[in-house]
Amino acid sequence: MTDKTFSLTNNVTGDSVELPVHQGTMGPDVVDIGTLYRNHGVFTFDPGFVSTGSCESQITYIDGEKGVLLYRGYPIEQLAGKSNFIEVAYLLLYGELPSKTQLSDFSGSITHHTMINETPLRFFNGFHYNAHPMAMVSGVISSMSAFYHDSMKIDDPVHREIFAHRVIAKIPTVAAAAYKHSMGQPFIYPRNDLDYCSNLLNMFFSVPCEPYEINPIAAEAIDLLFILHADHEQNCSTSTVRLAGSSGANPYAAIAAGVSALWGPAHGGANEAVLKMLNEIGSVENIPKFVARAKDKNDPFRLMGFGHRVYKNFDPRATLIRDMCHKVLKGMGGAENAPLFELALALEEVALKDEYFIEKNLYPNVDFYSGIIYRALGIPVSMFTVMFAVARTVGWVAHWLEMISDPQGRIGRPRQLYTGAALRDYVPVSGRD
Ligand code: SDX
Repeated sequence: MTDKTFSLTNNVTGDSVELPVHQGTMGPDVVDIGTLYRNHGVFTFDPGFVSTGSCESQITYIDGEKGVLLYRGYPIEQLAGKSNFIEVAYLLLYGELPSKTQLSDFSGSITHHTMINETPLRFFNGFHYNAHPMAMVSGVISSMSAFYHDSMKIDDPVHREIFAHRVIAKIPTVAAAAYKHSMGQPFIYPRNDLDYCSNLLNMFFSVPCEPYEINPIAAEAIDLLFILHADHEQNCSTSTVRLAGSSGANPYAAIAAGVSALWGPAHGGANEAVLKMLNEIGSVENIPKFVARAKDKNDPFRLMGFGHRVYKNFDPRATLIRDMCHKVLKGMGGAENAPLFELALALEEVALKDEYFIEKNLYPNVDFYSGIIYRALGIPVSMFTVMFAVARTVGWVAHWLEMISDPQGRIGRPRQLYTGAALRDYVPVSGRD
């Protein structure tokens, strides 16, 4: 709290109110409106929460004007260049970089929770082979709330930690099982001798009839993408997890709600939509036509992978992913993906010189280049958002833990501006026209 206040005046009644202002470590101050309705009978109105801080958090900081992203104070560029996904997961969950022993214990715990109960594996047989993997993943993750009765006391820190490790460990296994089901191939069990990202690649691509050699560039690329997708403040899916969890719902159900929210093309589903868009554009010659469509108010077409609610500058993650694209295409020999990458680079160049995109601060976001890497690794487009969900599970869990352990925490319940029918009496059908 600071001694700063914000004054609001009702110009009809002359009623004015001094609202307290809270100051964070960094970023904009917040005006505390918690007593506004009780004392002055009005709500604030902010559809889409463009100017609304929904909670206090110490996990991730974003400066959209400067293109800054910090996980627990550490710049994303430093973590991407020097850390790895499991260490970043520990940092997001516990708030500090782990000691050697802490990292070894955490990594060991995750490794030894990667298997999933054989019963949910049979759930996959209930899905048609062409079910969207996000539907399968959210269904199976939600079903875990029916399995782990031994650790569901959400007011018990030990149970909360067991849940956190279990769901982070199992989400790659569930993702790989969804992929194998869609391919009609046998499920591949996790291996405890592999690191998190190599294990995922092995569960995706190995088959029982021959050895599978993990390409280290592929594992490195996945690890980088997972670091960059791990958390992002109060985005749509993370806010969904917080809201669902605020009712005291089973945490696996809250994470499943996050998976569903991420699925939308305006959010995590954009990486899948970018590939479809690039394939629709097809060639550099067609770019001007599609850029014109993106600018046309009467055309619902948008440049997928461009724009962001917070970043009004380059999304720092997009720059790091673009650099990894070069490395993967060079190292993996994905010649068939090079034209797609060249098309994406050309589209970025055209858009960033266009007045419309400059004026509206529309830059490539995290989803613009990630799909090109996933495709070069052999991951199908339908699995791109699942890959996003695997990484973001760490952020969802970190925010759920922060929300559920807040002693001031309460159920989230927004209000509204009602513009429906005024009070009226029921008319029996016999009396209606
Ligand atoms: C993610 O929140 C997060 O942090 C999300 C995320 C995370 O890590 O969790 O970063 C991940 O979801 C990235 C965003 C992925 N989505 C896309 O790439 C889909 C395409 N982008 C947009 O639909 C849009 O930019 C959003 C959804 C990302 C942001 O929408 P906003 O903040 O509500 O902005 P808006 O829709 O009001 O757009 C502002 C203006 C509008 O024009 P005007 O009405 O002011 O005239 O910009 C235009 C929009 O029409 N605009 C675009 C555009 N994005 C915005 N025009 C063309 N192409 C686009 N991509």
